[in-house]
Amino acid sequence: MRSLLPNHSVTVIIPAGGSGERLGASIPKALVQLADRTLIEHCVSRIAPIANQIIVAAPAGYEEKFRSLLGDDILVVTGGITRTDSVRAALSRATSDYILVHDAARSLASTQLAGRVIDALASGEKAVIPVLPVIDTIKNVDHNNFVITTHDRNALRAVQTPQGFEAQTLRAAHATSDDATDDAGLVEALNIPVKVVEGEDRAFKITVPEDLARAQRALLGEDTKNIRVGVGTDAHAFSADVNRPMWLAGLLWSDEIGVDGHSDGDVAAHAICDALLSAAQLGDLGSNFGVAEPEWAGASGAKLLQETLKRVKAAGYEINNVSVQIVGNRPKIGPRRAEAINSLSLALDGALVSLSATTTDGLGFTGEGKGISAIASVLLRVTGRIS
Ligand code: CTP
Ligand code: MG
Repeated sequence: MRSLLPNHSVTVIIPAGGSGERLGASIPKALVQLADRTLIEHCVSRIAPIANQIIVAAPAGYEEKFRSLLGDDILVVTGGITRTDSVRAALSRATSDYILVHDAARSLASTQLAGRVIDALASGEKAVIPVLPVIDTIKNVDHNNFVITTHDRNALRAVQTPQGFEAQTLRAAHATSDDATDDAGLVEALNIPVKVVEGEDRAFKITVPEDLARAQRALLGEDTKNIRVGVGTDAHAFSADVNRPMWLAGLLWSDEIGVDGHSDGDVAAHAICDALLSAAQLGDLGSNFGVAEPEWAGASGAKLLQETLKRVKAAGYEINNVSVQIVGNRPKIGPRRAEAINSLSLALDGALVSLSATTTDGLGFTGEGKGISAIASVLLRVTGRIS
């Protein structure tokens, strides 16, 4: 919930009732898939952080499909023949004192853009629209293809959504029977000042097929900003105690002599824990499970993996993949690789895990058979869901 408007609430109306004729898909435009979700889901997930209520106008006949995609928190109404009809259908259900109207087709508009619109409303404006400068010179032409006038480009702006309004201003504007491609046009007709704030490139309207490729490129940039990589290593010496059990990669290796240490000495699990914690900027095994938290002393590798994942998730991340390499002369990993991957993955809620192993040509403590080590790297995705 947005704190800038402590005494106000915000309803976001999303007209998504169009068919998307110019896009040429066989389904309504808002249901077209872009990367991992539909356009309407992109739109809703970006606007949700600033909204107290979201109302989506769906194309007639697609209401249930929208409901199943968007969940119970989103109110889905039946859209109308025109965009204005769709906005009106939603407006009758809006309960907040500020209303944003935001085209589903501007699916990648950022939360910050909506924030700028709300900031201007909070400072007392009745109507606020995001705009961009116009790059091309714009002319009026007649039916015979002759120029009538040329506009002063410096005074022109291209208009985007979300457009923000005081609820009573928007209701008054829509009380007329006029049709408009943007809601601010109806407010202007009432001689109410409409304030402009800076728009953004990524709020462009997905209209023709090439726009989907542009949206895909914009998402790619976003995805790379939302990943975190982490690295971790661990090493232990083989024990002189022949009865010491060997735990490695979450498995008991009953024919092997284990390693020294207070824990089960599972270097693969520990290296992964460290990599996860480092990617999430949560410190390391020592700072998480050391003397300050004695209940973890002696915990198994699998238990530590489970608890580490819990902390990483709580910090707002999810695992993309985990890769771990075991370095040592024994045990031979190959025959039990699938089993080991399974056990590590199970401890990490089914995450994608890969496991490799190597020897070091007789060099170093691993090559001399004195111990075993592991190195892990992980890729996390930012979910932003901090618990
Ligand atoms: N819209 C709506 N109800 C309509 C028509 C349009 O809610 N009867 C919505 C669209 O779903 C879109 C926004 O208004 O989110 C802007 O419209 P546009 O980009 O033109 O979408 P479509 O009308 O679906 O596309 P086209 O004009 O190519 O058919
Ligand atoms: Mg249209």
